[in-house]
Amino acid sequence: MTTSPLTAPLTTEQVSTPDRQWWRDAVVYQVYPRSFADSNGDGMGDLPGVTAHLPYLRDLGVDAIWLSPFYTSPQRDGGYDVSDYTDVDPRFGSLSDADEMIGRAHELGLKVIVDIVPNHSSDQHELFQQALAAGPGSAERDMYVFVEGRGEDGELPPNNWTSIFHGPAWTRVTEADGTPGQWYLHIFDTSQPDWNWENPRVHELFRDVLRFWLDRGADGFRVDVAHGMVKPEGLPDATVNAQGLIDIPEGEVPIYFDNDGVLEIYREWRPILDAYEGDRMMVLEAWIPEQRLPLYIGDEKAHQSFNFGFLQARWGVETMRAAIEQPLALADAVGSPTTWVLSNHDVIRHASRYGFDPDHSFGEGLGRDEVPDAELGLRRARAATLLMLSLPGAAYLYQGEELGLPEATDIPDELREDPSHLRAGVPGRDGCRVPLPWVQDAPAFGFSPSGESWLPQPAEFGPLAVDQQQGVEGSVLEMYREALRLRRELRLGEQGEGHGVAFDDAAPAGVLVLDRGEIRIVVNTTSAPVPLAEVTGGAEHEVLLRSVPVGPTGEDRVAADSALWLRRSR
Ligand code: NOJ
Repeated sequence: MTTSPLTAPLTTEQVSTPDRQWWRDAVVYQVYPRSFADSNGDGMGDLPGVTAHLPYLRDLGVDAIWLSPFYTSPQRDGGYDVSDYTDVDPRFGSLSDADEMIGRAHELGLKVIVDIVPNHSSDQHELFQQALAAGPGSAERDMYVFVEGRGEDGELPPNNWTSIFHGPAWTRVTEADGTPGQWYLHIFDTSQPDWNWENPRVHELFRDVLRFWLDRGADGFRVDVAHGMVKPEGLPDATVNAQGLIDIPEGEVPIYFDNDGVLEIYREWRPILDAYEGDRMMVLEAWIPEQRLPLYIGDEKAHQSFNFGFLQARWGVETMRAAIEQPLALADAVGSPTTWVLSNHDVIRHASRYGFDPDHSFGEGLGRDEVPDAELGLRRARAATLLMLSLPGAAYLYQGEELGLPEATDIPDELREDPSHLRAGVPGRDGCRVPLPWVQDAPAFGFSPSGESWLPQPAEFGPLAVDQQQGVEGSVLEMYREALRLRRELRLGEQGEGHGVAFDDAAPAGVLVLDRGEIRIVVNTTSAPVPLAEVTGGAEHEVLLRSVPVGPTGEDRVAADSALWLRRSR
């Protein structure tokens, strides 16, 4: 067998330190609070709902939870439009509910990561309202990016930037005297004005926000649009393509992202986190070219960043292998293990993604006419999950993936809330945000005691409810549980001696085979079963876990579109 070793061994000391930094190989479960569990029957999930289900997450076997924003917000972008960073939106509860949730999580041994949204606030933030009222040239306006327009009367936007949610990235305000005035920048929705990070008061504000949540026990932060914040000097025009959209050459990012100034922010924040006990961390949501990662991650910078390459890789040996090799090589370079993620609240759920290759980006959702092959999608998703959970580094799960939930494609347009749907008519991300099914035979599948649900749940969620899968051999939920248990027992998340990753270059065509010490991971990406003997290298072996139950294919085959974990005897 030929193998290609990838990860440089860590020293014995690093591997055996009992209090290794928890985030290095943690499995983190993302809670999207609106859709996790509703305790008061208003159809919107809330913090008491999260607290009530923490034992479920502990039993699932995760190490930490990350909550998408639950702060005061008009909810124009699902809470990523924050109007008060240091309070809880009444829809989600109160500050004391947050304290209780954090305290209970800690009692159960779960870490808590909160979301911080530093690129923009809500237009309802009091500082933006003050900026509007104070007028051009004021200190208040300088908290945000207010600029005079171009053209004779300033009637044209300051530059040609377009918003990530489609349409212009600038909105013109009406001044106090009723005349059309300055323009403000919003890389996202009109309701999400960008902060001006050239202003030291903005830095001060966010330092305080970090301390506020660290004091309340947060173990870390997921940093939203972590490559945003600092804009290029002079706000120059971007190159636009034939469609009038900002041209983003392959491997690059829009002009307003990944500017060097943003790196200083992490250098400023790191000592704040380090001053607290207990390995407080930051994970960056940074969609940046991978060669830029070392600038963001390191001892005096952020701890880790989402690696979206694995999520973007299409089903297949070459694509998935490359999406594993590259981040591992990079992790060695930055000295921090990589992260893995297959789903989150912004992309088409992986149980559907693998059953359908849309032409558009994963972030634009699926429409009614884009129906995935549900069975194939789920089969491959289960296999991809086993692959992901076998890899060294941290893994981020998104609520509902442990149930194999598909993307909801038939949400009526008038119920969709994603700003990109409202601005441009694309299906948008609501399809991956539908409230969870807990109990098949209960109102709103047990999501809410009243049967209310802010988005309708598709009928196929019923049989996927937690109560239908718990304790059921071969269910998706039990597969996740077993994988997480084994991952911990076998220390698969760890990197280093005895924990390297070695691909088998001699694996049969269409089969990905990799070794983590004596554990071998096999993913059959083909549509035909493969004899087990062809992937065991003739060694004695024991099958530890299969992504799908043994069916008619038999024990001695790796079923089509499936994965398994083997222990090979030395
Ligand atoms: C990334 C978040 O994950 C997404 O949901 C949000 O719309 C944008 N950032 C803007 O905050």
